[in-house]
Amino acid sequence: MQLQIYKDYTALSAATASEIISLLKQKPTAVICLASGDTPRLTCQLLVQKGLEEKIDFSRFSFIGLDEWVGIPPENEGSCRYFFETLLIKPLKLSPSQVHLFDALSTDLENECKKMDALIAEKGGIDLMIVGIGMNGHIGFNEPGVSFSNYAHVIDLDDTTISVGQKYFKGPVHLKQGITLGLKHLMNSKQAILIANGTKKAGVIEQAIAGGVSNLFPATIIQQHANGFVIVDEEAAANIKG
Ligand code: F6R
Repeated sequence: MQLQIYKDYTALSAATASEIISLLKQKPTAVICLASGDTPRLTCQLLVQKGLEEKIDFSRFSFIGLDEWVGIPPENEGSCRYFFETLLIKPLKLSPSQVHLFDALSTDLENECKKMDALIAEKGGIDLMIVGIGMNGHIGFNEPGVSFSNYAHVIDLDDTTISVGQKYFKGPVHLKQGITLGLKHLMNSKQAILIANGTKKAGVIEQAIAGGVSNLFPATIIQQHANGFVIVDEEAAANIKG
């Protein structure tokens, strides 16, 4: 794993967007998975801006959404689908056939997981996976205690995720479960990038990169990814020693 520290949120987002663009230049049919949330918001915006300026071919890659809140409809502004629709799918005019998001309203969530695992396998795996980190050390909805060998799965959300997650919604919302790619997907991805910004992430970033690898703090697994990167701004890097 490599650590990269950028001056601020804009610089780290520009660097992350550039990683996506350079992959698409090399491999227009790449399979790319992104998290939603506050951290990747500017990465998505810069990807659209720079990508359109540079006339990148966005028509052939496969886009995979990392996770979704179970029971939250797509039109809800706090859903992951809404985030991707607004920030990537519409601005890049992605076709439905290249976009793969969990249907968290499905009556058969196990089948949603199986379908996603099969799709990723059929495409030859994920080329680039860009994830955030939760205040409990989660990646996607891989909550503390999760098995490192999980592929896609449905999981009961941790109390921290339920309370922090309220920030995405207009009013209080009942969050109970998430559907998510597993850490096995992260470890199998050809490149993995964990991004974090701001002072509030300094503690979790310190633990993710310097703590012992443990499923009680799932993000520590990034230490074991052979082509793993942690890309942070100076605020999120504040607790990292020399
Ligand atoms: C969201 C997701 C979550 C977030 C994490 C950080 O799709 O997978 O794991 O990446 O909770 O969220 P933000 O970026 O809002 O601080």
